[in-house]
Amino acid sequence: MVGVHLRAAATPGPNKGLDLQRGTGKDRNMLIRIRRGWEIPESQATPESVVMARRSLLGAGAGLIAATGTAQAQWRLFGSPVKEQPRKPLEAPRNAGFEAGRAITDEVNATTYNNYYEFGMSKSIVGPAQALVVEPWTIRIEGMVANPRTIGIEDLLKQVKLEERVYRFRCVEAWAMTVPWVGFPMADLLRIAEPQAGAKYIVFNTLADEKTMPGIREGFYPYPYTEGLTLAEAANELTMMTVGMYGKTLPPQNGAPIRFITPWKYGFKQAKSIVKISFTDKRPTGFWEALQAAEYGFWANVNPEVPHPRWSQARERLLGSGEMVPTQIWNGYGAYVADMYKGLEKERLFA
Ligand code: MTE
Repeated sequence: MVGVHLRAAATPGPNKGLDLQRGTGKDRNMLIRIRRGWEIPESQATPESVVMARRSLLGAGAGLIAATGTAQAQWRLFGSPVKEQPRKPLEAPRNAGFEAGRAITDEVNATTYNNYYEFGMSKSIVGPAQALVVEPWTIRIEGMVANPRTIGIEDLLKQVKLEERVYRFRCVEAWAMTVPWVGFPMADLLRIAEPQAGAKYIVFNTLADEKTMPGIREGFYPYPYTEGLTLAEAANELTMMTVGMYGKTLPPQNGAPIRFITPWKYGFKQAKSIVKISFTDKRPTGFWEALQAAEYGFWANVNPEVPHPRWSQARERLLGSGEMVPTQIWNGYGAYVADMYKGLEKERLFA
């Protein structure tokens, strides 16, 4: 895994994120310019020789972590000790209908290389994310529904059947992983929420807690993190509400206690730590779309042939091995989803 424990630069602000996935800088002259964590100006960029030296060091470090599998090894290598929140076992039968066709990413890699900007702009937010208070947890269901209400996560889980599915996951930054998620089809949530006939979209808002989330206190970004799907996308058989991974409840850094997963879309769609679900007839504006609509849109479907304005999407780097593999259209899930987009060809389906 490359770059897993690079620290963010000391200066606070939207430019501080440090990651190896830099763009070409082609659009540096744009007027609206709020940089995401991995977008740093050339002036702050690490010279290639240093990057390559760090890559081999970090590669070795990641190998050691994977080998020992202990937080102790991580923090001996990379900094202050972190006591991770205990995760409850969450055994659920694996749905063998969803073969990922590649090896499952080591848990330590999937749970230590994260994007969760509320907790910081680097990939190493495991420490700060432990402040997330996941119990008690309620979800507000409102908007165009039969009965607006607030439901406790335990009550929600009593009404569904959990299963495990192994999905490929592709971030817009061109890294990827393969994860055994535990959850239930979002179609079941629709059944419970009972959207009205005129509803067209489902919108997710995630926790924005000033007390525990430094990103919220900084006030740079338009929190709460918001994402949305059409009801057809929400009802698609691939779409999962997810409460666990690797046979345990989700860790805070991966979006405890509940997030959603749409494996044919870029990772930024897949909102973490959901506290509100609303139904509407108006297309919502997502968090990244609100920040930079030229680069991040509503649909965000994976397509290797549609580059991000500042980098190619043709290939992806697998967390753990660092292997570069070709990216597939719809992240390889076209048989399940391509039909939903017939007649929408004029939309920016792949941004
Ligand atoms: N959800 C919230 N609330 N905040 C975030 O910063 N980041 C998104 C998405 N969901 C994000 C979020 C992005 S950019 C990605 S790639 C994935 O979460 C990363 O999920 P992971 O950390 O579980 O790999």
